[in-house]
Amino acid sequence: MRVLVTAGPTYEPLDPVRFIGNHSTGKMGYALAEAFALTGADVTLVSGPTSLPDPTNSRIAIQRVETADQMYAAAAAVAPAADVWVFAAAVADYKPAHVAENKIKKQGDTLTLELVKNVDIAATLGKNKRPEQFSVGFALETNNEEENAREKLHRKNFNLVVLNSLRDAGAGFRVDTNKVTLLDAQGEMIIFEVKLKAAVAHDIVQAVLARLPREA
Ligand code: CTP
Ligand code: CA
Repeated sequence: MRVLVTAGPTYEPLDPVRFIGNHSTGKMGYALAEAFALTGADVTLVSGPTSLPDPTNSRIAIQRVETADQMYAAAAAVAPAADVWVFAAAVADYKPAHVAENKIKKQGDTLTLELVKNVDIAATLGKNKRPEQFSVGFALETNNEEENAREKLHRKNFNLVVLNSLRDAGAGFRVDTNKVTLLDAQGEMIIFEVKLKAAVAHDIVQAVLARLPREA
């Protein structure tokens, strides 16, 4: 089995010294790469900038990228040959419309930045997903959690969506634990307790394996 995992944040440059980013640590994505590798799968981990060390498991090939465009290019090169896609990255929704060649100097009392939409990696790849391929997405929500997660499942052609609610204690960024709810394309919902991210990754891998189309 071949698995593609995206992980971590993306950094969208403004000038040679600044970027727009987010608080994703990459821990959940790296834990998923590890959990899939432990089942014997060959994993390509496309990672945005993180402070995590490269995985030592020889079944995991890591490709480090910075921007959403770079993450898309790396993921698109791997996706056609992968059986399972896991989109755990916190991709910046927008990037600066212009990247200044030189450091932007401090000027007036306000600064307005123009941003343009980034490519939606999961949705774009989802358009060419074959019936035997399986796609897993994440939804980090603060309100209307289930409805928003289901909308993403359909819009991005996911087979399974991992819902993180920021209302749950022990979930989200900068913690070693997570609390997730899985929603599948058949309408099934599984609610898990707060667990270490490695245990959450194991639960997600088991849910994927149970739903993979049978080999011909
Ligand atoms: N995703 C992606 N590429 C993007 C944005 C999101 O691949 N440019 C993936 C994420 O990795 C995640 C899923 O899509 O698996 C949902 O991400 P999320 O940010 O919740 O969805 P958005 O469509 O960006 O919606 P929102 O307005 O809620 O941010
Ligand atoms: Ca988003």
